[in-house]
Amino acid sequence: MKKNVRKAIIAGNWKMNKTRPEAKALLEELKPMVSDVKDVEIVACVPFTNLETALAATAGTNIKIGAENCHFEKSGAFTGEISADMLAEMGVEYVVLGHSERRQYFAETDETVNKRTKAALAAGLKPIVCVGELLWERECNITEEVIARQIKLDFFNVSAEELKKCVIAYEPVWAIGTGKTATADQAEEVCAFIRATLAKLYGADVAETITIQYGGSMNAKNAAELLSKTNVDGGLIGGASLKAADFTTIITAAVNG
Ligand code: 13P
Repeated sequence: MKKNVRKAIIAGNWKMNKTRPEAKALLEELKPMVSDVKDVEIVACVPFTNLETALAATAGTNIKIGAENCHFEKSGAFTGEISADMLAEMGVEYVVLGHSERRQYFAETDETVNKRTKAALAAGLKPIVCVGELLWERECNITEEVIARQIKLDFFNVSAEELKKCVIAYEPVWAIGTGKTATADQAEEVCAFIRATLAKLYGADVAETITIQYGGSMNAKNAAELLSKTNVDGGLIGGASLKAADFTTIITAAVNG
């Protein structure tokens, strides 16, 4: 069922890395390496300061650009924040929302992730909404409860038509930047559970079309196995997206997956 109904999306999340010249250099290196890729959507989600540089460097190529967050209000007195409209006007296509680092260090909640998702959709952006359990929650055997709650809250009042514009990234918090990858079976189990949860909320036909990524220490070595799984439709990649060769290997794995 997988690849013929769902778009495979490999997205890099650069986090707080790269100055503008470094961003340009990385994208210039990546461009020729992936120029022949057709069946996988390639996205680089970069710091706000790199967006203009990244958009210019990738214009006319098969690399799409995303931001790493956006605020939920349209405009106003929110010092330091960036609105979805500001991103859309630049030509940004994707935006990462609800990343566990935002939830952990910047006090974002499911309620604000929901508001951000709705704001991003209203601006015409494609949200990549991150969900995932803490290690403690997995050990307590409540992974499914945690994930179901996040899905229900983060997509509250999001219509089926809007959901189709969203990507969901399953990122177990214990696997992010730790070198501890979920096994392919663990990733598949939770991605399948996410799809089953979406099926309950939106119907199986809609759920089958939603791209679900795995993220958390995905790298050039483990990508092929993770991406071979039925419900793992792509990846959200941190560290390995900062190296053009490794990122390309992951993209190639998705082409073959
Ligand atoms: P790493 O690939 O560095 O573990 O980061 C994953 C991630 O958080 C992507 O959003």
